[in-house]
Amino acid sequence: MPTVLVTGGCGFIGSNFVRHLLATDAAVSVVNLDALTYAGNLANLTDLTGHPRYTFVKGDITDRDDVRGAMRHGVTDVINFAAESHVDRSIQDSGPFVRTNVIGTQTLLDAAREFKISKYVQVSTDEVYGSLGPTGLFTEETPLHPNSPYSASKAGADLLVQAYQHTFGLHAVITRCSNNYGPYQFPEKLIPHFIAKLLKNERVPVYGDGLQVRDWIHVRDHCRGIEAAWRAGRSGEVYNFGGRCEKPNIALTKELLKLLDRPESLIEYVADRPGHDRRYAIDCTKAERELGWAPRETFEAGLRETVEWYRANAAWVAAINSKEYLSYYAKQYGPSA
Ligand code: NAD
Ligand code: TYD
Repeated sequence: MPTVLVTGGCGFIGSNFVRHLLATDAAVSVVNLDALTYAGNLANLTDLTGHPRYTFVKGDITDRDDVRGAMRHGVTDVINFAAESHVDRSIQDSGPFVRTNVIGTQTLLDAAREFKISKYVQVSTDEVYGSLGPTGLFTEETPLHPNSPYSASKAGADLLVQAYQHTFGLHAVITRCSNNYGPYQFPEKLIPHFIAKLLKNERVPVYGDGLQVRDWIHVRDHCRGIEAAWRAGRSGEVYNFGGRCEKPNIALTKELLKLLDRPESLIEYVADRPGHDRRYAIDCTKAERELGWAPRETFEAGLRETVEWYRANAAWVAAINSKEYLSYYAKQYGPSA
């Protein structure tokens, strides 16, 4: 009976993953260790309150005692989602990125050794590969060339995972996925940010010329991929996941306008992000071949469903915007990190 420590389970992908894993396998228990930063939201998992195979622990992955305390819940496996995840924030202040993404990963790796963990999975990103020109795809062999403080901190974490696997024989797998979308994504990222603005008839800020390309994958497909990498991934290997769905930002913006029946006059071109990566696109044939995984969701249906989710959950967005949930945490669990 595996007990999986999911870190960052109150964030976007982590909360989708916790729900996915508990629903898919009745033999698995989950311990969710989350510091409840601005991006961590207990409301993402209210449906699991009282679930017999789910335990929430408030704690910071950079704190050895917090991590050890979580491990003592009988943890056998670790899947590390916890991270500072937003590129624009890393440009404002890289400190929390180095702290959580690098030191936090090191702290988890040390605990994984101490507690003789069976398998460790590091949830990483395609952004560690840097930026592509108009053609070509990222494979697992593409050299690391991170361009933002966010991607540099994720690449540093990946290298530590590989070093612990090599030096100490830790069973460790790294996943690198492209841009996710779907329910519970914090409304600072492109898709939920734009949906929330358009629902209020506000203008949407497109950076630079809007011709940057991202490869979009539904969060459910990513969650199935992480599960497959945990179960069947070979130690020391990297697995890329992507949706085979490249879109220039401006084309995606126009799809959102259409779905929400809003005019193109709501597009506002603004100053570009410094160091903005031009194009990401993933070759995921290794995951398909070795893990028997393939993306299932179509972007058209997934985007429509996501728009409907944000429309139906306007109160979830409003609570985030009003910071109400932070005072809720303070009352329930003490001040958030
Ligand atoms: P998110 O920002 O929505 O959630 C991050 C979670 O980690 C939050 O619940 C937060 O409270 C928690 N956290 C942050 N610092 C912590 C700390 N020091 N200790 C414990 N918990 C802490 O992020 P997300 O979009 O769900 O991304 C999850 C992971 O997937 C990240 O590692 C990210 O790099 C990776 N990833 C994200 C995407 C994407 O498109 N969002 C794509 C590929 C990979
Ligand atoms: P984002 O969701 O921040 O993901 P990432 O930077 O990790 O790929 O941004 C996706 C793309 O959308 C990226 O090219 C930056 C762009 N973008 C905008 O044009 N306007 C915005 O307000 C945001 C948040 C992003």
